[in-house]
Amino acid sequence: MKKRMTTTGGNPIGDNQNSLSAGARGPLLMQDYQLIEKLAHQNRERIPERVVHAKGSGAFGTLKITHDISKYTKANVLQLGVETPMLIRFSTVAGERGAADAERDVRGFAMKFYTKEGNWDLVGNNTPVFFVKDPMKFPDFIHTQKRHPRTNMRSTTAMWDFWSLSPESLHQVTILMSDRGIPKTLRNMNGYGSHTYSLIDDKNERVYVKFHFKTAQGIETMSNADAEAVVAKDRESSQRDLYESIESGNFPKWNFQIQIMTEEQTKEAPFNPFDLTKIWPHADYPMIEVGEFELNRNPQNYFAEIEQSAFSPSNVVPGISWSPDKMLQARVLSYADAHRYRIGTHYEMLPVNRPLSEVNTYHADGPMRLDEPKGSDAYYEPNSFDGPEEDKQYVEPPFAIDGDGYRYDHREDSDDYYSQPRALFNLMNGYQKQQLFSNIAEAMGGVPKNIVDRQLALFKKIDPGYATGVSKALSMQ
Ligand code: HEM
Repeated sequence: MKKRMTTTGGNPIGDNQNSLSAGARGPLLMQDYQLIEKLAHQNRERIPERVVHAKGSGAFGTLKITHDISKYTKANVLQLGVETPMLIRFSTVAGERGAADAERDVRGFAMKFYTKEGNWDLVGNNTPVFFVKDPMKFPDFIHTQKRHPRTNMRSTTAMWDFWSLSPESLHQVTILMSDRGIPKTLRNMNGYGSHTYSLIDDKNERVYVKFHFKTAQGIETMSNADAEAVVAKDRESSQRDLYESIESGNFPKWNFQIQIMTEEQTKEAPFNPFDLTKIWPHADYPMIEVGEFELNRNPQNYFAEIEQSAFSPSNVVPGISWSPDKMLQARVLSYADAHRYRIGTHYEMLPVNRPLSEVNTYHADGPMRLDEPKGSDAYYEPNSFDGPEEDKQYVEPPFAIDGDGYRYDHREDSDDYYSQPRALFNLMNGYQKQQLFSNIAEAMGGVPKNIVDRQLALFKKIDPGYATGVSKALSMQ
């Protein structure tokens, strides 16, 4: 027998096909509560889309630790043999919620690990670096990626104007414009924590860490022409591929690796290890195997579990923490603020965001407080009743900053925006370089000459061949 349909108040509904009217031709009656409730709910079906990374696809899976890294961290989630349920949401950055998937854009790689010690969110990208290194520049950068306020179209002029005035973007621009700029599927790309984070051991000592997730499916990419053909037929190509792979039991996997720097090494590194526009060269800071994760379950309801999912770099667990990286510091504050606006004050009470471990706060009330805290005399802190209290064992060691002997940017290589992109350029074979040149030339369509020239001068500082290659590609356009 089918269940009986009700209003939200649980009252049985007699007719869900016809509105209640005075005569056969109308007018309608005010007392048709079901009609009014139905229309009112329709008006409230959308929540604001994410201000960036609005188009995304998600899945659930399991992280498994296969190597012992306990000498670096006490985090339970990173101990040998521990398996932790997780959620991942992949995204493109610039497009709106209905944007086509196969676009040249950075891909978001946001992970939520439901650990025994609370949620650990690692909100990364498919690139190890970023366009800017100071959060002051982030909103302006994003404006250049979104629509022009007058034309309501994306503006290549704005993009290249900003990039050509921000040489720190060269590394990420080179990656974005390379063959890796359009992953073939979400399964065929790596993920990176990108920032420098830290690990804390059971003696409360800190080392710095970069997180890497290498696709076990292999890197596969699309050319602009391939992607155009895909988009012409299918705007949901990434969503479809991920959903269908998991549905058919073809579970994608990533290998989890880290790089480590001690506090001492951060002082000696020939570059600022907390600069998000720079990688840590693998030869100097070798990869250490940690484990793997597998995605094995599609969401049952996209809105509830993916649209309402809320990832935040502020969610760290004992044994994993932040670093002085200015971008990361700003992100620790920005995401929870975004969620309170986009989803609501108690967004972490929603099932997809709720930690598996116990949550004990003194935050009171507010719209949509979904739980029912038991009546208690301990509704403030400190109190002499049995309310939860702080535990000093979780106080982290301080960062070494000004006054402690050195500044993280004391040898800030602010002029060296070129050596790491140069190393990347030199790694590319002839075909990859040609792709890079033509991708840039195509992306520069309609950009005024003075801006193009300023960007070419930056490419020239990386390698004269980079600038000439792009110039030639431009002249062939
Ligand atoms: C200061 C720099 C940054 C700020 C202020 C910032 C801010 C934001 C905000 C407000 C959102 C929307 C959150 C939401 O409504 O759910 C977002 C999404 C996102 N950001 Fe950032 N962001 C910054 C840099 C970065 C960097 C460097 C990365 C990667 C390394 C990154 C990765 C992501 C991802 C993956 C998402 C989508 C998360 C999801 O799938 O829900 N962001 N960012």
